[in-house]
Amino acid sequence: MKVHHFVFLIWVPVLALSVPIVDFDIWGDQRQASSSLVADKDLSRLPRVLNFFPVPFVEECKANDGRRRGICMNTYECRIQGGKSYGFCALGFGVCCVFTSTCDKQVINNITYFVNPDFPDLSKNMSSCRVKVQKIEPEVTQIRFDFVHFNLGQPNRSTGVCEEDIFRISTENATRELTLCGYNSGQHLYFDVENVDGIQIDMVLAKKAVQRIWEVVITQIPFDQRTPPGCLQYFTGSTGVIQTMNFADNGRHLANQDYSICIRQESNMCSISYEQCSEDSFRIAPNTENDLDTNSIEEGSGDYDNELQESVRAVDLCNDKIVLPCDSEELLMPGIFGMNPGHCNLIHCGSTLCPAGQSPCKIESSATPFNIGVHFGETISNELSPEDNLGMCLVYEQIPCEF
Ligand SMILES: *[C@@H]1O[C@H](CO)[C@@H](O)[C@H](O)[C@H]1NC(C)=O
Ligand SMILES: *[C@@H]1O[C@H](CO)[C@@H](O)[C@H](O)[C@H]1NC(C)=O
Ligand SMILES: *[C@@H]1O[C@H](CO)[C@@H](O)[C@H](O)[C@H]1NC(C)=O
Ligand SMILES: *[C@@H]1O[C@H](CO)[C@@H](O)[C@H](O)[C@H]1NC(C)=O
Repeated sequence: MKVHHFVFLIWVPVLALSVPIVDFDIWGDQRQASSSLVADKDLSRLPRVLNFFPVPFVEECKANDGRRRGICMNTYECRIQGGKSYGFCALGFGVCCVFTSTCDKQVINNITYFVNPDFPDLSKNMSSCRVKVQKIEPEVTQIRFDFVHFNLGQPNRSTGVCEEDIFRISTENATRELTLCGYNSGQHLYFDVENVDGIQIDMVLAKKAVQRIWEVVITQIPFDQRTPPGCLQYFTGSTGVIQTMNFADNGRHLANQDYSICIRQESNMCSISYEQCSEDSFRIAPNTENDLDTNSIEEGSGDYDNELQESVRAVDLCNDKIVLPCDSEELLMPGIFGMNPGHCNLIHCGSTLCPAGQSPCKIESSATPFNIGVHFGETISNELSPEDNLGMCLVYEQIPCEF
């Protein structure tokens, strides 16, 4: 088990008051050790004393580059664990230790920056890159990836499949895996690591000529901080922006995506509204009419009422789709292109989130939890242009409860 031991060596009462996190109960048993430590300020002896701590103390800090995040620990331990000091923390008793890792290395610390070998410059002439991420504690149940910078080669323009550049996260025996490519700066995701010791990132970088850059923060999430199951992305805050992967100029959404974007319901908020980031920020091409004709509704389906036929039709029409939950089952009526205006559309595709002509386009829902389903297969038809498959950018805003 690997833990960053760090403790404030403060027993002067007035200082102690300003650092309320420290549990001073330990001094009762460890008076001798602590007083000798403070006396000679030998910080390197810290790990021995810390064996008596019931819970290791780990605190995040801000690096003095004004940008990165690190872990506050003593200078000695930062060096031993391969980190780099970026200024002081804990009233000068510790340093803000930033961990970076790159190709063919291991990630063995929380909050590690995985970067391309030439970062902050672009890397050229690469063909592959692999890094292993070791769980720092058995209790870690998820790994969070924050793509500060993520600019790799684009997927196949007509299918959305990552073919040349592939960023794959997988568990050791590949029971879970996830593939990305293209432009994903600013995105994040959670990867489930229950019942495995670690994961690996395998990057295939097929075209030597492509210039690439990435900086990915890898954070280890313990069980008690985990996000709800099934949420690849988890947003907090009463307002925010959500995008599908590879949402970029000249980009297109990726194929084979099947996940939920979840938004934490903030206190005193009862519903949520979604709006497009801009007029053209919703582009998910429906199947072509030809495809639709082959998806016949079964003969003798007279039992089905019209609504259900419509819904079956909509489901068939949207091969790639965004699913927004509806307020109530009664209003539930899947449809697109302005079918059933006034009803809640469960399934969305096409060139607008809202029924045609609805302006301003804003969808409200009080169905909880606030989840959005993203379901993209592989584009079958080659007639569709990448521009029709840009993906989705939405602004969400939570709406206070009315009492
Ligand atoms: C890793 O760091 C994050 C952010 O500071 C923290 O919330 C989390 O508890 C840490 N994980 C472990 C296993 O200590
Ligand atoms: C890339 O590789 C080619 C041939 O292997 C070499 O000529 C070129 O200088 C390399 N470019 C860089 C930027 O390293
Ligand atoms: C994209 O995929 C299609 C269908 O599999 C294939 O025919 C085409 O060659 C691919 N394009 C590129 C640039 O690889
Ligand atoms: C994958 O590996 C883990 C740990 O080695 C093991 O517990 C799990 O059963 C394996 N899963 C499969 C499907 O082999």
